[in-house]
Amino acid sequence: MRNIPSKLPQIGTTIFTVMSRMATEYNAINLSQGFPGFDCDPRLIRWVEEGMRKGINQYAPMAGLPSLRAEIARIVEKAYGFSPDIDEEITLCSGATEGLMAAILALIHPGDEVILFDPSYDSYRPAISLAGGHAKGLNLKAPHFHIDWDVVEESISPRTTAIMINNPHNPSGAILSNADLTRLEEVAKKHDLLVFSDEVYEHIVFDGLMHESVLKYPELAARSVVFSSFGKTLHVTGWKVGYVVAPEVLTKEIRKVHQYTTFSTSTPFQYGIAEYLKRCEEEVWNLGNFYQAKRDVFRELISDTPLRLLPSKGSYFQLVSYKGLSELKDTEFVEYLTKEIGVAAIPISVFYEDGRDDKVIRFCFAKEERELAIAASRLKRLEVKA
Ligand SMILES: Cc1ncc(COP(=O)(O)O)c(C=O)c1O
Repeated sequence: MRNIPSKLPQIGTTIFTVMSRMATEYNAINLSQGFPGFDCDPRLIRWVEEGMRKGINQYAPMAGLPSLRAEIARIVEKAYGFSPDIDEEITLCSGATEGLMAAILALIHPGDEVILFDPSYDSYRPAISLAGGHAKGLNLKAPHFHIDWDVVEESISPRTTAIMINNPHNPSGAILSNADLTRLEEVAKKHDLLVFSDEVYEHIVFDGLMHESVLKYPELAARSVVFSSFGKTLHVTGWKVGYVVAPEVLTKEIRKVHQYTTFSTSTPFQYGIAEYLKRCEEEVWNLGNFYQAKRDVFRELISDTPLRLLPSKGSYFQLVSYKGLSELKDTEFVEYLTKEIGVAAIPISVFYEDGRDDKVIRFCFAKEERELAIAASRLKRLEVKA
C-alpha cells in the first residue's frame, strides 16, 4: 500500500469522544459532551413522522425545503430585524458543522489567514487547514474571555481575509456586546474582511441580555456568513439540521460545495421542523429562560463544592476553576473527576492551540435536574487535594 500523507496530521480522537467513553466506562455522570440529556418536544416528532407518512422521503431541494427557509427568514426577521432572501441567502445543511465546512472550503483560498479566538470550537481549524488557509488564533482569557479589538487589529496582515467569531461562546458561555459588534463592524469594513459568525447558541442567552447577531448590523450582515443549528435550538443534536445565512454572492459559492458534499439535508426532518416553527415558535423565544433555569439550579447545587464558578451568560455550559484545589493539569483533573468522583467534564486547555491551562473545566448543564443533583452531590466529595 502506498504511503498516503495525512491531510490533517494533528487530528486524533476528539476529547468529547474520549471523555464520553470514559464516562461510560466509569459509570460517571456525563456532563462533558454538549448535548441535551432529555428528549425534544413530542409535537416535533409527530410532525417529522407526519412528513414520513405523507411520503416526504425523497431528496429535498439542494438549498433546503422552501417552507423551512420561509420559517427561518421569519424568525431571523423577528429576532434581528434582518430579512434574508428566502431563495438566495438561506441554505439548510446537515448540522452547523457541515455548513462551516462548506463555507470555509468555498470562501477560503490557499494562503489566506483567518483570525479566530481560542478557546475555539474544534471544527474551525481542520476546515481552514483543508481549504489551504492558515488559522491565526488569539487567546481569550478566563474568567471573562473578552476580545481585545486592538490586539485583533494588530494581528491583521495583508493575508488576512476573514475573522471567525462564536457568539454565544463555546466553551466559555461568554457573549459579545453591542460595543464588540460595533468594533467588529468597523474592523471588518476597514480591512475588507469576511466574517464567519457561529451563532448556534443564538437563542440561549441569559439574564435579560440580548443576543447580538451580526445580522442586526446591516454593514456586517453584508459581509458575514452566519451558522445556526436546530440541534441546539430544538434539543435534537442527532438530527443534524442546521443552516447558513449569507449574502447571495457568498451563498452561491457555499452551495457549490454543499451540493457536492451532502447535496441536501434530510427531508422529513426539515418538514417537521418547518411545521413546528409555524405552530410552536414560542418555544424558540422561551429557550433562554428554559436554560437559564437549569443554569441557576446547577450553579446553586455546586455553590458549596470547592469549585469556583465562572460567569455563564449564554450557551449551555458552565465553567469552573479548580485553582488551589489541585495541581493536576486540567486534562488529568477531568480524568480524576471521572474515575474517582464520578462526573465527566471537558478540560479547557484542549480548546487552545497552545494548550494554555488555567485550571478551568467545562460542564454541560443541558441535563435533567436529577442528573445535575447527583453530579453536584458527587462533586461535594471534592475536598481533598487531588
Ligand atoms: C460552537 C459550535 N459550533 C458548531 C457546532 C455544531 O453544530 P451541529 O451539531 O449543528 O453540527 C457546535 C456543536 O456542539 C458548537 O458548539
